[in-house]
Amino acid sequence: MELTIISPLDMHLHLREAEMLDFVLPLTSSYFAGAVIMPNLQQPVDSKDRLTHYRERIVNQCKDHGFEPYMTLFFKPYPANFLDEIKEQIIGIKLYPAGITTQSEQGVGELKEARDTFTIMEDLNIPLLVHGESHGYVLDREEEFLQTYLWLAENFPKLHIIMEHITTRAAVEFLDKYDNISATVTLHHLLLSLDDVIGGLMKPHLFCKPVAKSPRDRDALKQVVFSGHEKVMFGSDSAPHPIHAKECAGCAAGIFTAPLALPALATLFEQEGCLEKLQLFVSDHAVNRYQLQPIKKNIQLVRKPFVIPEKYGTITPFLAGKTLPWSYA
Ligand code: NCD
Ligand code: ZN
Repeated sequence: MELTIISPLDMHLHLREAEMLDFVLPLTSSYFAGAVIMPNLQQPVDSKDRLTHYRERIVNQCKDHGFEPYMTLFFKPYPANFLDEIKEQIIGIKLYPAGITTQSEQGVGELKEARDTFTIMEDLNIPLLVHGESHGYVLDREEEFLQTYLWLAENFPKLHIIMEHITTRAAVEFLDKYDNISATVTLHHLLLSLDDVIGGLMKPHLFCKPVAKSPRDRDALKQVVFSGHEKVMFGSDSAPHPIHAKECAGCAAGIFTAPLALPALATLFEQEGCLEKLQLFVSDHAVNRYQLQPIKKNIQLVRKPFVIPEKYGTITPFLAGKTLPWSYA
């Protein structure tokens, strides 16, 4: 049995820089037609120079793969003339509350002070991608942040706001309240609850931000994804960290899923009896919401066992050592 996915897109991806970038990029560019590239580098991508430089590095590395890097800028207050000049080169601007996750120290402190930039983005039709967590108790952070999404959605009704990597039932319920809100969902949040991370022995390779929540939350995510909800797009949030940064005191947040995401999603959609909806989740919804014209690229999956390697270079992947029923042709 075979399955063709037309122009799969990963709407939230961390490629890092230097050798790590060179290593992980083909593990996405071979299997996807495009990906939204996160800007949280050691020096955030927040200027025209950094953006151009980063994009060129990516494009040069994957010339043969037919892959479009959809670039993002790291949110900070930007003037209108700068955004007007750069808007054709970005798919959106990624907002991190300061210090909330890996390399987000230069993120936003007081959101309402960024009002002018939101207005400019709304006028210029530049989407706002948001890491939606407050600084409250870790399990309440996403739900608390919904007030901020509400403020954004009501005050900037033409701004396309994307709730990145949602993990809660509350966020799923919020999705339908405003037309200008969409969401991405990861692979790992469809599979994990907090029990998997810390319920038994502590599993550093399952630790990410936002942390996986309750089984009830996970079931709400599954329900909305498998129903084919048109505002829900796949964003892997594949976030590689070398093993020494994961297996230590002070484990870095991030799960590496890029090379196995599509076979694992096919497995899940098949288990739920809705394999025909996979195309919507991994491409069509993003094409529609973001109005994209992705590179035409067919990815073939076959029903043949795929043993996920224990390691990719220095990185332990999600589901390491497990066997999936679907693999790349
Ligand atoms: C991401 C990373 O490592 O850059 N980590 C994560 O746990 N998801 C950052 C992020 O998207 O929060
Ligand atoms: Zn991320």
